[in-house]
Amino acid sequence: MNELDAIVASAKLAFSQATTPPELENAKARFLGKTGSITELMKGMAALSVEEKKSRGAAINLAKQAIEAELNASRQALADAELQKQLHAEALDVTLPGRERGLGGLHPVSLTMERIEAIFGSMGFEVAQGPEIEADWYNFTALNTPEDHPARSMHDTFYVEGGSEKVPNLLRTHTSPVQVRHALQHVKLHQAAMDAGQPMPEIRVIAPGRTYRVDSDATHSPMFHQCEGLWLGENVSFKDLKYLFTEFCRTFFESDDLVLRFRPSFFPFTEPSAEIDIQFQQGPLAGRWLEVAGSGQVHPNVVRHMGLDPEKHIGFAFGMGLDRFTMLRYGVNDLRLFFDGDLRFLSQFR
Ligand code: DAH
Repeated sequence: MNELDAIVASAKLAFSQATTPPELENAKARFLGKTGSITELMKGMAALSVEEKKSRGAAINLAKQAIEAELNASRQALADAELQKQLHAEALDVTLPGRERGLGGLHPVSLTMERIEAIFGSMGFEVAQGPEIEADWYNFTALNTPEDHPARSMHDTFYVEGGSEKVPNLLRTHTSPVQVRHALQHVKLHQAAMDAGQPMPEIRVIAPGRTYRVDSDATHSPMFHQCEGLWLGENVSFKDLKYLFTEFCRTFFESDDLVLRFRPSFFPFTEPSAEIDIQFQQGPLAGRWLEVAGSGQVHPNVVRHMGLDPEKHIGFAFGMGLDRFTMLRYGVNDLRLFFDGDLRFLSQFR
């Protein structure tokens, strides 16, 4: 092998060993750069005769072209390899399962609220709302629980700063104040007709919402949910309450043989008062009496605070715990699960 062939061969070897473009360019410099072997050979031709220059020059040029061809081939090979690497890294695996879109859903207590509104709605009840920051008068006084009444201590109340009797100063401890708020509005709406001798249209209303008490354990939360009910007119009696609430519970729990029990009790705003217990005939809770609501005939003092005459207007009210209804319906045994915000629990109700 002559000298030029040897140079071409060693260039080819050097190029093939380069694994990155900078390495390749460095290798190129050793042959074609300013002090590269080919360049040096060119410089050495200065001393040759014209004839020798011609043949020697042609030979060196051939070697140079061969090296350049090798160089380009190597450049192309490196670029191809780089492209392959990139394509591989960015490859899409079309066989992977798709990513699910996170679907939201209603909270189980909201589901209960909607359900209760639908059932009572079908029985002619409207839905009312009241403020969660409530005035002492609506939460207690109007409900026949004046300042020094011992029943006030039945509720551990969160008070807020400021306020006075009729200015908000507490977080409502029950939804019962909505009874009075709604009745006052109802009376105002129909006052003119009543003054003209027409009977008052019956009040039939439920009021679901958040309530607050200083209380916290597995069955009590400082924030909880209640639903109030009020049916008031000139000819409404306890038997209507019994029928209504039985129908409601049977529909809510989808249990036609569910039984109700009215147990005498005390609430300042009703007289007589009863605690309502239910009993399932089937399922894991069968045979046990479960307390689900308070109820009673609206106390004459409360009827007066509604702007009505207790000699003429009579009716009943009830108040139930929505969290309790939700727990019974879904078989949940710890109230705190509703308020932890754990998606593993909540997504089961989607
Ligand atoms: N407000 C009562 C409570 O939170 C529940 C209640 C009892 C509501 C009797 C009523 C009722 O409307 O008539 O314990």
